[in-house]
Amino acid sequence: DKAGHRHFMAKEIAEQPVVLAEALSRYLRPDGSLTLPEPGLDFANLDRLVLIACGTGHYACHVAKYWFEQLAGLPVDIDVASEFRYREPPVPARSAALFLSQSGETADTLAALRYCKGKADRLVAVVNVTESSIARESDLVLPIHAGVEIGVASTKAFTCQLMVLACLALEAARARGRLTGSEDARLVAALRALPGLVHQALDIEPEAERIGRKLAEARDILFLGRGRMYPLALEGALKLKEISYIHAEAYASGELKHGPIALIDDSVPVIVLAPHDELFDKSVSNMQEVMARGGRVLLVSDRKGAEEAGTGVWEELAMPQVDPVWAPLLYAIPAQLLAYHTAVAKGTDVDQPRNLAKSVTVE
Ligand code: M6R
Repeated sequence: DKAGHRHFMAKEIAEQPVVLAEALSRYLRPDGSLTLPEPGLDFANLDRLVLIACGTGHYACHVAKYWFEQLAGLPVDIDVASEFRYREPPVPARSAALFLSQSGETADTLAALRYCKGKADRLVAVVNVTESSIARESDLVLPIHAGVEIGVASTKAFTCQLMVLACLALEAARARGRLTGSEDARLVAALRALPGLVHQALDIEPEAERIGRKLAEARDILFLGRGRMYPLALEGALKLKEISYIHAEAYASGELKHGPIALIDDSVPVIVLAPHDELFDKSVSNMQEVMARGGRVLLVSDRKGAEEAGTGVWEELAMPQVDPVWAPLLYAIPAQLLAYHTAVAKGTDVDQPRNLAKSVTVE
């Protein structure tokens, strides 16, 4: 049942304010304390966290690496499961390994989990489907509470994965004594504000639809982001490729002049994901480099960012102001809506893109 939407993907995008509030309420109590299912995770005694997933899940892990390292001072390794399992890397003592999977059945992720058995101190599953192989074979299961996701392109599962990982990073920061009382209160309040902000962000839909019609004419599209926004650029490019079949690539903005700038001309839209955060000035100089070469920049930012970016951008999408730490959760919305409307404009099969399956149970 698409509940009046044209596609399951549209329905699942629209459901995010509700499922995110639900996911948050399962982990964050009204008094601000966090609850993890038994046997929990002793972050104070961990030296390293290993985060393994495939596809969109890998990008959620990539965002979480910034959170665990910056908020909790906990070193994090991330990898795609297919590389990890065959590289057979050493798994250090005092480490936990976390396997993130919407379906809980992805073959490579399951194999990576089995490889870590008896090596990592704890095996953690972050899954949507709790009756899945990955959940069954883990010591600790953290459900993301996204509800059934039917669209092959993951949307609400991605943001719910981020929500659970955000709560875990907060728990890690507390356990490791890394937050002052006021930082803690700020982060909690900002996390609580997110479902409402996501609701507001969905108002960009008519603009995303208009811009999507223009993007549909492109052959190649570039996504740029810095810091916590780099994994979102990767996710935006993946989503667009999957459902619109337009070639899209993502780069960390600072990598632009190490190669991809050679691609820039007026036929390649460049989508810059840049909330007004501590790295915003750097993103502005990257945008100027693109515009100086005739590139068409679509800036996804907030009011302050749009003001400081000045003139010359091709298109803008204005997002609500958000705490920069949790911004990746909010900027998933424009990434999804742009991909969706570009695909609709091209007339592709949004919910069942060619060559893809919802659950990849073979390598
Ligand atoms: O079920 P999983 O989270 O393990 O699936 C992993 C990937 O196959 C999945 O995220 C895929 O990349 C999606 N189609 C992305 O939209």
